[in-house]
Amino acid sequence: MVMLTPQMLRTEFQKTFNTTPTLITRAPGRVNLIGEHTDYNDGFVLPMAIDRAVWMAARPRDDRRVQMVACDFDYARSEFALDAPILRDNAHAWSNYVRGVAWALQVRGVALVGADLVIRGDVPVGSGLSSSAALEVCAATMFVELARASISKVELARLCQQAENEFVGVKCGIMDQFASALAQENHALWIDCRDLSYRHIPLPRGAVFVVCDSRKRRDLANSAYNQRRAECERAARALGVVALRDVSIAEFTRRANELPHLLAKRARHVITENARVLAAITAAEQNDLAAFGKLMNESHASLRDDFEVSCAELDALVEIARAQVGCWGARLTGAGFGGCTVNLVNERDVPQFIEEVTRVYRARFGIAPLVYPCRAAQGSSKIEQ
Ligand code: GLA
Repeated sequence: MVMLTPQMLRTEFQKTFNTTPTLITRAPGRVNLIGEHTDYNDGFVLPMAIDRAVWMAARPRDDRRVQMVACDFDYARSEFALDAPILRDNAHAWSNYVRGVAWALQVRGVALVGADLVIRGDVPVGSGLSSSAALEVCAATMFVELARASISKVELARLCQQAENEFVGVKCGIMDQFASALAQENHALWIDCRDLSYRHIPLPRGAVFVVCDSRKRRDLANSAYNQRRAECERAARALGVVALRDVSIAEFTRRANELPHLLAKRARHVITENARVLAAITAAEQNDLAAFGKLMNESHASLRDDFEVSCAELDALVEIARAQVGCWGARLTGAGFGGCTVNLVNERDVPQFIEEVTRVYRARFGIAPLVYPCRAAQGSSKIEQ
């Protein structure tokens, strides 16, 4: 795949609007290394931004309209006015992320400026690498910059989450938007999703994170995701805490029998997963690849057996991966029900890993997975023209 460059965005803008852009913004997708379904339980997560991003080239307009062109969707166009109530455009679902961000920024009191925009990205859409969060953060960075407003990246991530929750209608947590905005090159990002404090954690050396896309669509993802959230909230209420984050493993072990079986399983996943994130940070700091990989494997088992968000394809992908030389650990990443796995693989074994995982998975499921190593990229950025 060709890596996108600012020049490509300039060319697209020139072709579309017959003039030059004044600003280019970029926001990356993410892969979560460990800490799954913990963000909406006020817990811990450890994602990294990947070297694939959504890009936008923009030029302000003086009529308070926003005109968007999506290069990846056949140059489809969608537009809206900043002075009228911002509505959804379901014929161009991609545009709702930009609309939602404009809506959230206006609710926050930012005086937005109209703009012509071209959008282009290389984050695979719908495979769990947060192309939608990348689009939101890219648009928010652009709107804030054109408005010359001063908004911290933490607040920007929250506004993007609000856009997705309230405008698009997906009840996601804060992880994806936060990672896209605040990640740092060569580092994972540890986020405490309660107070939004964070730390950049150097990645272990000698091995890389390889993403395997199962190509299984995440059909059930939205309804099942909301159901899991509700189950976690019920478990927290039954245990008398604000969020499952407040329960230690020791306390849970003592009190698990106070919960119905299903809720106990959901809670056990979240509570043990939070502990695994903290252990993974120590493993990364000590460059202990074996310990990090083992935590990834345990995370997958917990997501499969207790949280029940895996599927046959993801279970097979992690098994195939773990059978390869140089693979320290493998787990599903993101919401689950399809999408991708993340694997920790010795640098020198990556080419063979890619070849073998592709071959074995294709033989079993009749479709080739997309397997590629990811470099930990920098969070969102802007380039004045
Ligand atoms: C999706 C959501 C995130 C997070 C993960 C599961 O990616 O957008 O907020 O909840 O699922 O860890």
